[in-house]
Amino acid sequence: MSRIATDTMVRVEDVHKSYGQGAAAVHALRGVSFEVPRGQLVALKGRSGSGKTTLLNIVGGVDEPDRGRVHVDGRDLSDLGEDDLLALRRDRIGFVFQSFGLIPVLTAAENVGVPLRLRRADPREREERVELLLSLVGLAAHARQRPGELSGGQQQRVAIARALANDPALLIADEPTGQLDAETGLAVMELLRAVVHSRQVTALVATHDVTLLDLADRVLELRDGEIVEH
Ligand SMILES: Nc1ncnc2c1ncn2[C@@H]1O[C@H](COP(=O)(O)OP(=O)(O)O)[C@@H](O)[C@H]1O
Ligand SMILES: [Mg+2]
Repeated sequence: MSRIATDTMVRVEDVHKSYGQGAAAVHALRGVSFEVPRGQLVALKGRSGSGKTTLLNIVGGVDEPDRGRVHVDGRDLSDLGEDDLLALRRDRIGFVFQSFGLIPVLTAAENVGVPLRLRRADPREREERVELLLSLVGLAAHARQRPGELSGGQQQRVAIARALANDPALLIADEPTGQLDAETGLAVMELLRAVVHSRQVTALVATHDVTLLDLADRVLELRDGEIVEH
C-alpha cells in the first residue's frame, strides 16, 4: 500500500455526505475541507446534528463520502480496498467513543489487550504493553477491575489506553467526555492532550463542551454540515 510521507495527518477535501433520498435527504456534510497537521490535538465542535459523527466516521474509514477526498497518514482512502482499509483502521487509527465501548465481562487489562490479541501479539509483549498503557492513563492499580467496577472517567481512560494499544498515528474521539461530569471530562481531555504531546499522536476530537476547547491546538466548528471559519 503506497504511502506518502507528509506533515499532514488528515486532509479532507470537499467532502459531501447525505443520508436518504430526494425530499427526505439529510445533507450531513456539505463540502467540508480541512487539514490536521501531525502531532496536533484538533477539536471539532458543533451542536448535536451538525455532522461531527458523520465526519469522524468518514475520516476513520468507517463510512464513505458521496463526494470529495480523504487522506489519512499519507493515504487516499478512496484508493484503498477493503483489506487495506481494515489494516489502516486496525494499525494506524485508535477510536474512542462517548459510551466507552468496553467489554463488560473483561477486566480493564483484558479490554486494553483486545487489539493486541487481534494482532496476535506475543502474550508476554502483550502483558508488558497493557501494564505500560494502564500506567500511562493512571490506572495501574485497577487492572483487574471490570468496567462495572470503575467510574465513568476511569472507564474512558481504559478506552483511551485500548485505543493506544496498537500505537496509532491518529486518535479519533467522538464526544469522549459526553457522559462525564465537567471535572472528569476535563481530566480526560487533559489526558488526551498529554498523550498527543508526549507520544507523537495526532487527535481529532469531537465535542460540544466549550470548556474543553482551550486544551486543543486548533478548533474547527461544524455548523449544519459546513466548517465555519473563526
Ligand atoms: N444513519 C443515518 N441516517 C439518516 N440520517 C443520519 C444518519 N446519521 C446521521 N444522520 C443525520 O445527519 C446529520 C448529522 O448527524 P451527526 O453526524 O450524527 O451529527 P453530530 O455528531 O454532530 O450530532 C443529522 O441531521 C442526523 O440526523
Ligand atoms: Mg455525534
